[in-house]
Amino acid sequence: MKILVTGRGGQLVNCLVERTAGRAGFELVALGRSQMDLDQPEMLGEPIRAAKPDVVINAAAFTAVDLAEDEPEKAHTINAVAAGAIAAASRECGARIIQLSTDYVFDGTADGPYSEDAPTNPLGVYGRTKCEGEERVRAEAPDHLILRTAWLYSPFGRNFVRTMMHLAEDRDAVSVVADQSGNPTSAYDLADGLIAVLEAWRHGRTGLGGTYHLAGTGITTWAGFAEAIFDQCRALGLPAALVEPIAGADWPTRARRPMNSALNSSRFESDFGYRAPAWQVSLQTVVSRLGKSLHAI
Ligand SMILES: NC(=O)c1ccc[n+]([C@@H]2O[C@H](COP(=O)([O-])OP(=O)(O)OC[C@H]3O[C@@H](n4cnc5c(N)ncnc54)[C@H](OP(=O)(O)O)[C@@H]3O)[C@@H](O)[C@H]2O)c1
Repeated sequence: MKILVTGRGGQLVNCLVERTAGRAGFELVALGRSQMDLDQPEMLGEPIRAAKPDVVINAAAFTAVDLAEDEPEKAHTINAVAAGAIAAASRECGARIIQLSTDYVFDGTADGPYSEDAPTNPLGVYGRTKCEGEERVRAEAPDHLILRTAWLYSPFGRNFVRTMMHLAEDRDAVSVVADQSGNPTSAYDLADGLIAVLEAWRHGRTGLGGTYHLAGTGITTWAGFAEAIFDQCRALGLPAALVEPIAGADWPTRARRPMNSALNSSRFESDFGYRAPAWQVSLQTVVSRLGKSLHAI
């Protein structure tokens, strides 16, 4: 099975490349900005046609949530228009499309974890453009799979775990928001979930598509996430800081964030037989790996 992935430099794709290395049955072609520039949606058909993939995974995105408020047109082109163009080109060459999406399509007012059919109501430009990207993918490619995830971290790129470990190198305490909750998700677990989808399709299990949620198992706040990071740092003899819990209202950001963006991933588990480990368990692997290369943080 040939799989074309966009967003080669990103967290998810780095983890997917590691997880599929040497795995029988998969040929992964990961393309970066120089081969597929999502700022130019009209140019995206050619590399897809040339690669002749069985599946296209669109993991590239404008993921800077606050910057998107200042660059809404760029975010719209990349997250919405390009997603639709990639889905259309995939359909035209007979490839299935997997579109990555986000918990930030929700407004965070629900009492519990969001299921796939909960109404969307994004609070900011990033969530709005990703939500429109979902709609364009549904319209362009009936045979799609939209996979919403949340609070991604990994040893790569910019993410909360790397930021906290970096801050602890020269601070005794950090203030962290304690009234927004969600599911910290290792990009390795998301990659494993994608492999479960690809294996299901490779073995001819048809009819599996539509919108799914896949996030780490368990819910916490950003402050709880930070405390777990530093607990694990202490256990490994790495720099750690104290967490001072604060309200989101006391930490103004350009974009509003949902108060509760926890996702219910049970539909994914029941269709693909994969459930992400407890988020604290997956976190250990990433903290310990980052600890071994602190200079790279
Ligand atoms: N990060 C999260 O917490 C989170 C949460 C929920 C959902 N998601 C979704 O999950 C997916 C993967 O996220 P991630 O954290 O792995 O993303 P990431 O680390 O921020 O990587 C995004 C990738 O997109 C690429 N990209 C941005 N603009 C581009 C353009 N114009 N043309 C081509 N490539 C471009 C970036 O390229 P450069 O390396 O060249 O900049 C980067 O490789 C995304 O769809 C995201 O929306 C992420």
